[in-house]
Amino acid sequence: MQRTLSIIKPDGVGKKLIGEVIKVFENKGFRIAAMKMKRLTRTEAEGFYYVHKERPFFGELVDFMISGPVVLMVLEREDGIAANREIMGATDPAQAAEGTIRAKWADSKQNNIVHGSDSEESARFEVGYFFSETEIC
Ligand code: CMP
Repeated sequence: MQRTLSIIKPDGVGKKLIGEVIKVFENKGFRIAAMKMKRLTRTEAEGFYYVHKERPFFGELVDFMISGPVVLMVLEREDGIAANREIMGATDPAQAAEGTIRAKWADSKQNNIVHGSDSEESARFEVGYFFSETEIC
């Protein structure tokens, strides 16, 4: 079993897609091991995306991520990191495969409904960034 961090971003929450997104993950064999909804602080969003801090889109990305509440989830499944990325589709919805979350619902590279960890190392960091072990069921 592999854990991965999933975030339903402010656009996904704003479009009332929380239930739809969770249903996709559950139907694809994921177990939700932890979940919470919160509005990130600027400091939290900057820390979460620190690997992107030199990118030209960093400021806008942080502004977007704190523009409304997000849903944070720890998802668990065999080969969960790769499976989650496949289910989400490419960062750019124009490149995302048909039927993926981003192809169906995302508006742009930035407003792309969901985040998912991209490696075992980032999953460890990202899960630990938002959840303590006692919060993971
Ligand atoms: P995410 O999976 O959360 O990881 C980093 C985020 O940066 C990515 O999804 C996008 O929301 C955002 N991002 C990546 N590339 C771009 C880009 N070229 N322009 C704007 N935002 C981007």
